[in-house]
Amino acid sequence: MDLEKVAELQKIIDDSDNIVFFGGAGVSTESGIPDFRSQDGLYNLKYAYPPEEIISHSFFEANPKEFYRFYKDKMLVPDAQPNAAHLKLAELEAAGKVKAVVTQNIDGLHQKAGSKAVYELHGSTLRNYCTRCGTYYDAKFIQDSEGVPVCPKCGGIIKPDVVLYEEGLDSRTIRRSIEAIEDADVLIIGGTSLVVYPAAGLIDYFHGRKLVLINKGAVGRETRADLVITDPIGEVFSQIKVR
Ligand code: APR
Repeated sequence: MDLEKVAELQKIIDDSDNIVFFGGAGVSTESGIPDFRSQDGLYNLKYAYPPEEIISHSFFEANPKEFYRFYKDKMLVPDAQPNAAHLKLAELEAAGKVKAVVTQNIDGLHQKAGSKAVYELHGSTLRNYCTRCGTYYDAKFIQDSEGVPVCPKCGGIIKPDVVLYEEGLDSRTIRRSIEAIEDADVLIIGGTSLVVYPAAGLIDYFHGRKLVLINKGAVGRETRADLVITDPIGEVFSQIKVR
């Protein structure tokens, strides 16, 4: 691990009390949840249909059975635990240094680690709603259901509160994410390839002092980072002290 760069990150964190974290699937790989575009990522799986097609609105509508087969098999990881990155970000929030986590992840691990201000741009597997009567169901209900989960109340198909391709993002979540990023003194971007919009475009609202990128692979756009670390993000954060 590049300890010199970790020391530089430590100084940036020590010197700020207005840090926003912007993350993606790479934050959860050390918790055993595969990302999407790495070699062993979900999108490189050989599947009956291209995974990016399966997690789309039109596929969900047309083929809920196949959708749920993939979703339960590959996207629900109920016993995943927060790793050092999630835990340290929660500690930094409690210490008044991290003001918000803006995440593309749907696994709920930031909240499980104790973070309070978490903006889930792509929704969450922990929330599921009947498409007919709107009744809420938790992830366990989906996990325990056979085939396509249907609402016991009205028989409607239950849908995860996850933003599928072809669907829009929640406008309030976007607004709050932009406000946090616009106000931030430091933006730490981690575990994301920055190829999916509008999420990847939110970093353009950052005009603060220091931008840090912690990502193993190359990213799909210019970030103007002041510090780039390519070590595993959980290992990096395990070295960070909350002072
Ligand atoms: N530490 C640091 N970086 C990591 C780690 C790790 N432990 N593990 C993976 N990475 C990096 C990979 O190199 C990759 O560049 O994280 C990045 C993850 O990129 P993607 O797999 O593209 O995931 P993400 O950027 O979150 O995808 C965005 O695409 O399909 C949609 O909705 C889906 O939210 C997702 C969005």
